Amino acid sequence: MPATLVAEPDLPCFGIPQAEVLFGGGVDRVGAYNHEVGDLVTILCGLLGFGAGETGRWREAAALHDLGKLWIPAGIPLKRGSLDQDEVSIMRDHVVLGYTRLRHHDRLAAEMALYHHENHDGTGYPFGLAGEHIPVSARVVRLCDVYDALRAVRPYKKGMSHEEAMGIILFGDDRIQPGMFDPELLRLFALHHQRFAACLDG
Ligand SMILES: [Fe+2]
Repeated sequence: MPATLVAEPDLPCFGIPQAEVLFGGGVDRVGAYNHEVGDLVTILCGLLGFGAGETGRWREAAALHDLGKLWIPAGIPLKRGSLDQDEVSIMRDHVVLGYTRLRHHDRLAAEMALYHHENHDGTGYPFGLAGEHIPVSARVVRLCDVYDALRAVRPYKKGMSHEEAMGIILFGDDRIQPGMFDPELLRLFALHHQRFAACLDG
């Protein structure tokens, strides 16, 4: 399914600057552009043996994984407190909204946008894909995105320490379970977790 849904060729050098020209954004209030996830993705790319060129491409593409939030009413992603069922449904549309724009410009970014909320155990969306059926690019973004989201300060929440975020990813809580993540990527995260901390903490 992934290979046939995402059929447009990549264009070189498509990243946040080009996306902002095409789609706007300027002041990114809703998290549509995310440099941090792009930076975190480069850690896993290196651990997976990617070369510099491919790692750079993944960084640029991963930074656009939430582009679809530009077309979600800002009150929803920035809402303080939990979302109701309708709001959750609208929020989930961001994966398809991002994909439909990006597929004409960057195949890798479109792939990450569409599948980055799929979970390894099949509990994600929009398709409920599991394991090897999820593109590797999206599995990489999934882990980095969850780590970044736990660490990040948002209008509606405090940021967690590295230790708190790592504990949740490795051992789970009421919302996140380790089975959501690719086991090999989870193993690399556990082995090299200090590099993730350093990436966000500088
Ligand atoms: Fe997302």
